[in-house]
Amino acid sequence: MSLTVEKFHIQEQKDIMARVKSANAAQNRAKYARVLTFGCQQNEADSERIRGMLDEMGYAMTETDDGADVIVINTCAVREHAEAKVFGVIGALTHLKRAKPGLIIAVCGCMAQRPEVSERIRESYKHVDIVFGTHALWRFPELLETAVNGGERVFSVENSDGEIAEGLPALRGRKYTAWLPVMYGCNNFCTYCIVPYVRGRERSRGVATVISDSKELIASGARDITLLGQNVNSYKPAGETDFPQLLRELNDLDGDFLLRFMTSHPKDAGERLFAAMADSPKVARHLHLPFQSGSNRILKLMNRGYTREHYLELIAAARSAMPDLVLTSDVIVGFPGETEADFEETYNLIKEVRFDALFTFIHSARPGAPSAKLDDPVPRETKQVWFDRMIELQNGVSAEKHAEYVGKTLRVLVDTETGDALYPFSGRTNGNRLVRLHGDAALGEFADVKITDCNTWSLIGEMTTPRA
Ligand code: SAM
Ligand code: SF4
Ligand code: F3S
Repeated sequence: MSLTVEKFHIQEQKDIMARVKSANAAQNRAKYARVLTFGCQQNEADSERIRGMLDEMGYAMTETDDGADVIVINTCAVREHAEAKVFGVIGALTHLKRAKPGLIIAVCGCMAQRPEVSERIRESYKHVDIVFGTHALWRFPELLETAVNGGERVFSVENSDGEIAEGLPALRGRKYTAWLPVMYGCNNFCTYCIVPYVRGRERSRGVATVISDSKELIASGARDITLLGQNVNSYKPAGETDFPQLLRELNDLDGDFLLRFMTSHPKDAGERLFAAMADSPKVARHLHLPFQSGSNRILKLMNRGYTREHYLELIAAARSAMPDLVLTSDVIVGFPGETEADFEETYNLIKEVRFDALFTFIHSARPGAPSAKLDDPVPRETKQVWFDRMIELQNGVSAEKHAEYVGKTLRVLVDTETGDALYPFSGRTNGNRLVRLHGDAALGEFADVKITDCNTWSLIGEMTTPRA
């Protein structure tokens, strides 16, 4: 099976988009669509594609349910809480659908790819018209046209290893920052994680396509581009290159821009990656490298494929190549069978590494993932106590790290007009720290900013370069 969707299949979708657009134009009022996104940056990038397809079918975007002719809910399955939130949103649309039977409601993404979820929607949420999984995203025009014309419910949730669909439009929500998926899927099967079951196997986009997309983004004003993948540093297009080489090639492109990437897996991180980062001035000095647990026993049960010692060696090597590196990570507490002693090892690792920021989770049993079948004797309250201790430690470190910036002048990309009277603009440092800005600034430009104050989550800054 080819990994890339054949061009003529993409052309079929483009023909359908043109047909739907003329049908919409023939009606005597504008049509609107709303896309709601849950989950990670990969889902944000997928939603940009969904909006791009809707735009090409003649739908204008709206931020309200009432005004919408089509509502698409792009879902996340990573934790139980994420799924519960989505079911709440779907349930709340029952009344609107009753009042407006022509409204099309679509549920897509990682949850929709789970057979239990698509069955539950089929049986209990009959007001949902379209359900499509991650592998059917490129066929959205066809599914929408069928639902609009046929009035039948449409389900496209077949399991698959996954393909790559090139050539579909995207409507980006942000001008100065951009997501750029370079690889999809995951082969690692960490025992707690649902992602490999809903996103298929690892597959990488070709270098030439990534380069031409990057050039387009830079030409359209993007100054901060994040390369995306479930394990972005496992990027490996057939016979071509690898992730460090991709970084070097993108660094050579013309223009004033920054490159970021996430999420990296420790198994494919090493000297080659750190050297490529250190040698590339356009690659941000920021590494997001999840460690998940500081206990070797738990890392093994998680099937992470590295030890605590190896992780610490990686951090030492990365910091030695880039002393100014900003380091962030993900961690899970309360994995089934985790003991107080295991947790202490996680706590001590956090204390030792001193991450700039940490994304912290309590283990959530995902039906279908192996950890859901393990004995889990530790009560939720104990896990919460561990979790709170960990957050307190990390908040202290984050605040101390932020305090070190006060008095320094940093280069910041001003990317947001906040609407806040005191801090009308905000931006991001090279290391991806949020800076709230006093005074006037030019959106979409890098500026020298003096850091005057800080808290745990953000820095406060003043422009030192006058606005051009
Ligand atoms: N591929 C990335 C990696 O290996 O680090 C992570 C992708 S996952 C979408 C984002 C984070 O969610 C993970 O790093 C993990 O910390 C967390 N996560 C995944 N499954 C989880 C679960 N069942 N319970 C709690 N947290 C989970
Ligand atoms: Fe999930 Fe592990 Fe794959 Fe990350 S590497 S997406 S945590 S299975
Ligand atoms: Fe969630 Fe799917 Fe991302 S499960 S975290 S939206 S890959």
